[in-house]
Amino acid sequence: MKKIGIGIIGLGNIGSRLYKEIISKKKDIGLKTNTNINIVAISAKNLNKKRNFKVKKNIFYKNPLDITKKSNVNIVIELIGKSDGISKKIVERSLKNKKHVITANKALISKHGDYLTSIAEKNKVNLEFEAAVGGGIPVLRTIKEGLATNKILKVYGILNGTCNYILTEMESTKDSFKSVLKKAQNLGYAEPSNPKLDLNGYDAMAKIRILSSLAFNKKISNKKVLMEGIEDIETKDIDIANQLNLRIKLLGITEVINNKLFERVHPCLVKKDTYIANVNGVMNAVILDGDPVGESVLQGEGAGPGPTSSALMSDLLSILRGNIKFPFGIPSSKRKKVFSYDQNQNFNSLYMRFEVKDKPGVLSQITKQLAKYKISIARLIQIPDSKRKTASIIIITHKSKELYSSKCLKSFKSNKNVLKNPILIRLF
Ligand SMILES: NC(=O)c1ccc[n+]([C@@H]2O[C@H](COP(=O)([O-])OP(=O)(O)OC[C@H]3O[C@@H](n4cnc5c(N)ncnc54)[C@H](OP(=O)(O)O)[C@@H]3O)[C@@H](O)[C@H]2O)c1
Repeated sequence: MKKIGIGIIGLGNIGSRLYKEIISKKKDIGLKTNTNINIVAISAKNLNKKRNFKVKKNIFYKNPLDITKKSNVNIVIELIGKSDGISKKIVERSLKNKKHVITANKALISKHGDYLTSIAEKNKVNLEFEAAVGGGIPVLRTIKEGLATNKILKVYGILNGTCNYILTEMESTKDSFKSVLKKAQNLGYAEPSNPKLDLNGYDAMAKIRILSSLAFNKKISNKKVLMEGIEDIETKDIDIANQLNLRIKLLGITEVINNKLFERVHPCLVKKDTYIANVNGVMNAVILDGDPVGESVLQGEGAGPGPTSSALMSDLLSILRGNIKFPFGIPSSKRKKVFSYDQNQNFNSLYMRFEVKDKPGVLSQITKQLAKYKISIARLIQIPDSKRKTASIIIITHKSKELYSSKCLKSFKSNKNVLKNPILIRLF
């Protein structure tokens, strides 16, 4: 049996679970890969922090970079997080020192994945990051292996469990965004100090960038793209959607249109009887449209120590089986440059909600303005609030150009009868 030394850097939520998982599955891993694996190095910020396993001080390294140089370490698992700083250095140095690397760090891979991949390929070692997208769902491996010769046409899905939990809970309890966010934080679904990166779409966007790169054999895009989160969604929108037989979901979507990459993350109104509308709570789901396979659906828990460790273990076994391959499926030099689709040219049906003063002439001001920007109305609902002398005007439009709709909404800024920035949600 080949002896393999593993270094785990970062012993937080994920690292501590993985540590225990590797130890408890050592025999099984040996059977499946004919290797004798041992954790020979660990590192975290604070040696004395209380952890849910006994830390062996003789293998603890204060400076994680020392692990990247150890001759008895063959595989480095980076579980700190963040796109730059120490995590990047650890991965970069490990690869340069011909160590295989496994990471769950989507921020790092979505920003520096091309660069790190070229180092891995040059040094003929693996760089694996299954856990960076969709938690326990084996979506990257499915694209790389299971669907290897398919032409992927589109990938979309629910890629952030925190947002999906909040939207689901707002619908079932009718509680406000703020109070559901608090609940999510208490349950450990949202970060207690800074949940912004989940809520504003950044986390889902990092995953979409990795997915599109792999699905379409392209470099990772770094262009500014359409990214909107769920912070402005109110229970009112969820209720109205419900009446229209629709549901609000934060979707990440990537596809190639006329050879140009169109990536986006934003809240979408989906028909209640669709598959994606019924993926609830913290669940993630990814839908892949490929030729000749057709539509494939992968659903599972998108975060948490259990699912994430499962994905990390699949990376580990892939390396132990000697499956040395290109991190993004094909050689880096063959991955194509990204040309971005101009999102302003996209057509979408829209849901718009205007909060207005309830007085004569306001509705016609809105409809006139929409007509000016070539936006035609498919449906109009008015909900008066007689106590406040205000009204909500909800408009569902026919397909209209993104460029016109964003210009049109901006034009209401100077209208004193429109009390708040209008809400816009795209129909999917
Ligand atoms: N949590 C999830 O559900 C989930 C899901 C998918 C992917 N991920 C990814 O997994 C990674 C880890 O996430 P996590 O939730 O486990 O984070 P975490 O609980 O905050 O753990 C981070 C770990 O990094 C250690 N650390 C920080 N700075 C360090 C340094 N300079 N040197 C050595 N160690 C250092 C910390 O040490 P101390 O313990 O001493 O503070 C801690 O053990 C991230 O990239 C995250 O995006 C997480």
